[in-house]
Amino acid sequence: MDLVLVQKVLVALFASSVVAIGVAKLRGKKLKLPPGPLPVPVFGNWLQVGDDLNHRNLSDLARRFGEIFLLRMGQRNLVVVSSPDLAKEVLHTQGVEFGSRTRNVVFDIFTGKGQDMVFTVYGEHWRKMRRIMTVPFFTNKVVQQNRAGWEFEAAKVVEDVRNNPASSTTGIVLRRRLQLMMYNNMYRIMFDRRFESEEDPLFQRLRALNGERSRLAQSFEYNYGDFIPILRPFLRGYLKICKEVKDRRLKLFKDYFVEERKKLASTKPAENNSLKCAIDHILDAEKKGEINEDNVLYIVENINVAAIETTLWSIEWAIAELVNHPEIQEKVRAEMDAVLGPGVQITEPDMQRLPYLQAVIKETLRLRMAIPLLVPHMNLHDAKLAGYDIPAESKILVNAWFLANNPGQWKRPEEFRPERFLEEEKHVEANGNDFRYLPFGVGRRSCPGIILALPILGITIGRLVQNFHLLPPPGQNKLDTTEKGGQFSLHILNHSTIVAKPRVF
Ligand code: HEM
Repeated sequence: MDLVLVQKVLVALFASSVVAIGVAKLRGKKLKLPPGPLPVPVFGNWLQVGDDLNHRNLSDLARRFGEIFLLRMGQRNLVVVSSPDLAKEVLHTQGVEFGSRTRNVVFDIFTGKGQDMVFTVYGEHWRKMRRIMTVPFFTNKVVQQNRAGWEFEAAKVVEDVRNNPASSTTGIVLRRRLQLMMYNNMYRIMFDRRFESEEDPLFQRLRALNGERSRLAQSFEYNYGDFIPILRPFLRGYLKICKEVKDRRLKLFKDYFVEERKKLASTKPAENNSLKCAIDHILDAEKKGEINEDNVLYIVENINVAAIETTLWSIEWAIAELVNHPEIQEKVRAEMDAVLGPGVQITEPDMQRLPYLQAVIKETLRLRMAIPLLVPHMNLHDAKLAGYDIPAESKILVNAWFLANNPGQWKRPEEFRPERFLEEEKHVEANGNDFRYLPFGVGRRSCPGIILALPILGITIGRLVQNFHLLPPPGQNKLDTTEKGGQFSLHILNHSTIVAKPRVF
């Protein structure tokens, strides 16, 4: 930055602080804002609380300021709710008022200013997109059409792990193979396509671009331009990279998948309806003029973002917990042996006969919640919550992780103890029937993918435990389960190396 620029920035900061103080004084008279740390001009609470507003840091703040508090991040309002009653108010009772999503300059690029579904505001466009996506993605029929494919993919994982000599000796990073499986599970639904190996160049390009998109969107690097609008011009370089990644990614979806499918459809007899995959339905909606070509690509973008890594992180956490709790792992195995018979491979319909496996999945989603603060909500207009004024366009975070890990509400929540879901919490389901436990959210903006995620988790974890004894690598008696992230997604810091000793039936 040259000197003139620094001077300009300082003058602008001073001017905006004077305005901010003025506005704050005026506002202070009119509005009853939620409690929170005292903000300073321009920066608000940003310098006090820092960038990393993860589920644990926000839980600490909730202990200090209560079940609703306000943080001023520069010019942005951030409201955090941390009680089941207020979660119900935000997600259910006032679900329309708080049913929008926040925007920022980076998300505007990746979503074409809200032409997608996941990050668009609540309204006509969202309703239409969610309706159009429901039949091809989010029904039991989709599960029934695709479950054989998921079972096949899980069997392939088992086969590859068995055939890898390192698996039973030094161990392997199981996640890598599971990532390929998750891409296959979702690309089968979307395009009736799969990738044969981790070396497939198209798979590698997809994975790299999806990774870049997540990194750029979830970085703290652009916070200054988001929180303090006059600094936005300095984001130009960052935004240019975002735009390039976005263009390359959408072009890849278009050229290699959507166009391919269009070509295939034009050569097939029209009555071949039973073989329709999701994109065929979406292209039908485009033909009818309900959505445009860009919307089609943003649907593909949303599935790539929302479906693959979330489910993968949850599988990864479940496996890590099972390795670190061998007695629980053995109980899952014993249940499958008893109910299905040793060596009889688990399939989707078996899930309902395997309550302990279900409890392990629920417990993983509770303790290691993949999206611990849900996807941020937003109120388009001024609103009221718990008797406080919530200014329009505030970012609303529901600390779902705290709700599910609050010692005041759960028995020894820090323990990985699936039995809780068969004992004192046996009525609690993952679909939001209890506002203390919302791994998929609840209400209008809740996760529609729950219907796919739960069977995929069951089949994958089931097959691995059935076919292998999963252990830490030589010289280690526990896996490192240090967490990473939390503000957007919660994953394991170090992908675990796992020894998988095949069972002989
Ligand atoms: C274990 C796996 C998954 C977890 C933990 C999870 C969790 C979530 C959460 C917490 C939300 C936000 C809810 C809210 O803001 O109130 C969400 C939204 C969403 N999820 Fe999932 N999800 C998973 C898998 C999937 C899958 C497999 C798909 C698609 C096939 C999917 C599609 C979506 C979509 C489209 C939304 C946005 C809904 C909207 O804004 O209207 N998710 N998910």
